[in-house]
Amino acid sequence: MQTTELVRFKESGKQITVLTAWDAISSSIVEASGADVVLVGDSLGMVVLGHKTTLPVTLDQMLHHTKAVCRGFCNPLAKQPLVVCDLPFLSYQCGEDKAVEAAGTLLKNSCASAVKLEGAEPETLLVIQRLIRTGIPVMGHLGLTPQSVHQLGYKSQATNKDSQDKILKDSEMLQESGCFALVVEHIPGKIASRLKKLLSIPVIGIGAGNDCDGQVRVTADILGLSIEQPPFAKPLLAGRELCIDALKNWIESINPK
Ligand code: KIV
Repeated sequence: MQTTELVRFKESGKQITVLTAWDAISSSIVEASGADVVLVGDSLGMVVLGHKTTLPVTLDQMLHHTKAVCRGFCNPLAKQPLVVCDLPFLSYQCGEDKAVEAAGTLLKNSCASAVKLEGAEPETLLVIQRLIRTGIPVMGHLGLTPQSVHQLGYKSQATNKDSQDKILKDSEMLQESGCFALVVEHIPGKIASRLKKLLSIPVIGIGAGNDCDGQVRVTADILGLSIEQPPFAKPLLAGRELCIDALKNWIESINPK
């Protein structure tokens, strides 16, 4: 699967499905589910490394987890989902050369074909343009951008006219800079819907209503494995309780009361 296929999905009206994975087990499950894209999101810092935010995640950790994700695929390469890897905090905010080195390291040493990064500040746009000139496809991310948690909090974004105008403008700048797709997180559905119509690249939502070109979810959240569920990621099953009960049953079978 290539990044260019996602634009074709948008044109044909097929909804794009994106799920996160962080190791070989999760990627084999997500691949078998038939998701179009596997995102090795820096949410792994919270989901599997136990941090309170995504900020502590390092480039080495992203590479370590992305390699494990790639090893987990069972299908031949041509049938594997597209792998997009998050650029962690401070790997792209300190200049274009550093960003190229970080993104290049991920693509060179794993099966990832693209990177995702947050925001659309002027210096971020320059980084995106440089990455794309280097041959590294970039997915944008606007709305709730977790690497800015200390400025934005984990709350809904684009809730007033000024911030709505800004996200519309920022999304156009990301498209003009060459992003192949845009993730929008925790914004009103009517704004995501406007973005979908405004842009020719796919708009992939999380907590952004149903009228997007696709949806992305943190796999641990929709499987109900996370202790703290974000308000916009409704679990599909009570995964945590199911696992705990199964393990309790096993322990009782070893040590009957
Ligand atoms: O890190 C991540 O998992 C993400 C998704 C929430 C889009 O960026």
